Amino acid sequence: MSVGRIPEEIIEAVLQQHDIVDTVGKHVHLTKQGKYMKGLCPFHSEKTPSFTVTPERQMFHCYGCGKGGNAIRFRMEIEGLSFPEAVRAMAEEAHIPFEDRAFRPGGSPVSREMEQLLQAHEWSSKLYHFLLKNTEHGKPAMDYLKSRGVSDKAIDTFQIGYAPARWDTLVQFLDKRSFDLSAMEKGGLLSSKQDGTGFVDRFRDRIIFPLHNRSGKVIAFAGRILGEGHPKYLNSPESRLFTKSRTLYNLHQAKTEIRKSRQIVLFEGYGDVISAWEAGVHNGVATMGTALTEGHASMMRTLADEIIVCYDGDNAGQAAALKSIPILEAAGFQIKISLISEGLDPDEFIQKYGAERFRIQVLDGAVSAVKFKLIYLKKNHILLEEDGKVAYIKDALEVIAPLPSPTEREIYLKELSAELQVSFDSLKQECNQFRQAMQKRSSYGDNNAKRWNNVRHKKGKASMPTLLPAYHVAERRLLSFMLQDSEVARYVGDRLGDSFNINDHAAVAAYLYAYYAGGKEPDVSRFISSLQDDRLEQVVTSIAMMDTPEEWTTQELDDCIREIKRVPLQAQIQRKKEEMVSAERAGDFLRAAQIASEIIALERQ
Ligand code: CTP
Ligand code: MN
Repeated sequence: MSVGRIPEEIIEAVLQQHDIVDTVGKHVHLTKQGKYMKGLCPFHSEKTPSFTVTPERQMFHCYGCGKGGNAIRFRMEIEGLSFPEAVRAMAEEAHIPFEDRAFRPGGSPVSREMEQLLQAHEWSSKLYHFLLKNTEHGKPAMDYLKSRGVSDKAIDTFQIGYAPARWDTLVQFLDKRSFDLSAMEKGGLLSSKQDGTGFVDRFRDRIIFPLHNRSGKVIAFAGRILGEGHPKYLNSPESRLFTKSRTLYNLHQAKTEIRKSRQIVLFEGYGDVISAWEAGVHNGVATMGTALTEGHASMMRTLADEIIVCYDGDNAGQAAALKSIPILEAAGFQIKISLISEGLDPDEFIQKYGAERFRIQVLDGAVSAVKFKLIYLKKNHILLEEDGKVAYIKDALEVIAPLPSPTEREIYLKELSAELQVSFDSLKQECNQFRQAMQKRSSYGDNNAKRWNNVRHKKGKASMPTLLPAYHVAERRLLSFMLQDSEVARYVGDRLGDSFNINDHAAVAAYLYAYYAGGKEPDVSRFISSLQDDRLEQVVTSIAMMDTPEEWTTQELDDCIREIKRVPLQAQIQRKKEEMVSAERAGDFLRAAQIASEIIALERQ
């Protein structure tokens, strides 16, 4: 391209302002179908819709004619514009300064605002920490923390602080350092005065827990009241920096230990994480008082295989633990759930019974998800009465019958039989009836697994799959995971680098490593724009539209990697075989024998 490259910030701002559904919706009538939107392709003529938009990925793709990409690509195609023309038009529409400021060093206003906000959080966090430790103002807060058994070491490790009972501590502090106060308000550090004449501190007379992103930058705060009062916690609002559903408390410090042990402990509260840390449990994280999301689960899954859900022992905590199971299961975790007696929370348990008992009784004693469900269900029934027993058995079988492993089913049925004093055989028989009923239901029901494929419109150009060689499929699959998750990219980068067999795939991988190395989050649409290469763009789009599940296992990655690595080996073996034949023909048997042993060695690999 002869035009100078357009700065990434502009492209990102354009993509942020132009939602794919709105952009496409101006030209195509879209209807919702689960995660997708469908419509008739504007680029080729068709009667059955094969044109899809995925809002989640901000991409469009036509299974009929193969066109696809992000919002910018759509505008290029539909209006016949070049890339810079499309970006310029879209920037103007969204009032994003394109020419004068864009190309100046220092980046766009968007990224500068983010930087300022990060800087302000960092400094505010230091200020609060200082005020807690070194000033008279911080004394009551310090006393409170001490009374709850928080050590000086923990205060430093977690950068705990104190926001004084004044309206303008942070306002003054930020103003003196020339931060734009209204930007600070938008970013959640300050609040507007009621009458709109200025700003006041958001956090006042509260213990401050800084919340960090995965790479350890402060992105928000949680403020706890000293003692009793309402609200107990005041959190920063969601902002450009801070999304609750994607933030986990302490992940930045815990990730080393989590990676090492492949195990993570999930708590409900900040205090639980801190107490557990002091009790020697360094792989603990917590959600922000909100429910666990799929986003949390897949983030954690990139680091760990096993999770211990260690929620409060009260009813609310146990109910939340139950709810977490399907989400964690869907992410492919091995799940354990802690049972804490007396309705205590982990923090309280540690204060009362000590670190060792916590580790042994609560963590090592955590039970499987099935066991937890059975225990949980049992509470609803009075087992001394026959009716209660029967009802409990029915509930329990609903949990046990769907288990795929016969051994596992047998173990739980045996336990149940001993517990309720009913015969194992009758339980087993009932369980089998349950299974038969289940199978019937599933064969009559919708075949949802490949819902999309059923409607897929298969005319015209033969669409990809089936006939591609295994390594080709493996490469696409791997790239598709890598596009969704930087952790996978790192994993693959370490093991495979850019040794993909197909040149375009190798190129995409190389670009993707560079993209993540720049600290960017997974985002296919943005990544595509960073390529500025039409062919690679199509390659990425078609990979991104694959029906790859969001979750993955290292096993699966390893399988793909092995498949990919096999190709050059096989090519090498083939070459050696040819060499051997020609050595034999030339009568050089010694050489032929040598090559033969080399082939055997290669084949072993
Ligand atoms: N939480 C919140 N806002 C509230 C109450 C709770 O954001 N008003 C979140 C916090 O992340 C808190 C978690 O929910 O850590 C668990 O709540 P709770 O068990 O009530 O608090 P604890 O962490 O046990 O706090 P403490 O030990 O200080 O009482
Ligand atoms: Mn609690």
